[in-house]
Amino acid sequence: MSGPLVLGVETSCDETGIGIVRGAELLADEVASSVDEHARFGGVVPEVASRAHLEAIVPTIQRALDTAGVRLADLDAIAVTEGPGLAGALLVGVAAAKALALATGLPLHGVHHLGAHVAVDRLEHGDLPDACISLLVSGGHSSLLLVADVTLGVTPLGSTVDDAAGEAFDKVARLLGLPFPGGPHIDRAAREGDPAAIAFPRGLSGPRDAAFDFSFSGLKTAVARWVEARQRSGEAVDVGDVAASFQEAVVDVLTAKAVRACREQGVDHLLIGGGVAANSRLRALAAERCASAGIRLRVPRPGLCTDNGAMVAALGALRVEAGRPASALDFGADSSLPLEVV
Ligand code: KG4
Ligand code: ZN
Repeated sequence: MSGPLVLGVETSCDETGIGIVRGAELLADEVASSVDEHARFGGVVPEVASRAHLEAIVPTIQRALDTAGVRLADLDAIAVTEGPGLAGALLVGVAAAKALALATGLPLHGVHHLGAHVAVDRLEHGDLPDACISLLVSGGHSSLLLVADVTLGVTPLGSTVDDAAGEAFDKVARLLGLPFPGGPHIDRAAREGDPAAIAFPRGLSGPRDAAFDFSFSGLKTAVARWVEARQRSGEAVDVGDVAASFQEAVVDVLTAKAVRACREQGVDHLLIGGGVAANSRLRALAAERCASAGIRLRVPRPGLCTDNGAMVAALGALRVEAGRPASALDFGADSSLPLEVV
């Protein structure tokens, strides 16, 4: 295997991720998560995440170098998530990456978090297709993107107008008394339930609604009302049925819009990423609908779907291979980095 040796730094949310790749080959993917520190708050607390990044970043970089069996002096470039994400959390990664770049004289590439979620699939399934639709669903984002050359940028087709998909899973889990983060718990509970038990609403799915935007807050409220009504009348709430029906409403909308985007853009590859891509029903329904629409589905393994440093290194390596210029060292962490800038 050959290709540029790149270290990637990801600190946009609650994972301190350091990855090292050589071209398309993954050499190290070390993640230190502060998720347990946020659990009692039911969501990520920005200040807690920033402090955890500060404590974890140097040891995690060292672990990644040890795992890959390389030294800083061997690297060809460093890449870091420039945004979007939590400002204070991003700042820790950007400052660390700049310090490394200055100390080593290596080129530094500031990259877009969503572009990195797309690029990571190269490490698992090989070269990215010439064009694909990407559905990125996590606790922080829910986006449909049109991707051609990911080193040049991605084109947003739509995104959530309120809650992110993962956020909806986390909030519904909380009202069902399940722990944070709720996605995996809903996924598990849903296996014991009937997805057709309750007809929860499919947000923004009417003929006049934005075809590629998502809305999950109405669904979350509908679940809350349904549970409250049962509790008021003293009826037992079947957690499995609620979980399965809620999950079906989310993944039905996600997959329907993703397949429609492929059709309308004339693209025959769909790439799904982000923490919610670990959802078993999302994977199954996407596979089913892609197969009947003649679309090739690519979903990286769950560890590469959640935030990690390997994805940043993967996009950095693609940029180096494509001859894209390194970033000037005066760029800042940008919590709302526009999508076209990768
Ligand atoms: O990508 P990620 O680790 O972090 C960011 O939010 O950026 O995604 C975490 C989100 C959480 O909301 C979590 O509940 C959700 O992904 N998640 C899942 C599953 N596993 C994780 N949602 C549904 N089903 C799952 N199996
Ligand atoms: Zn992410």
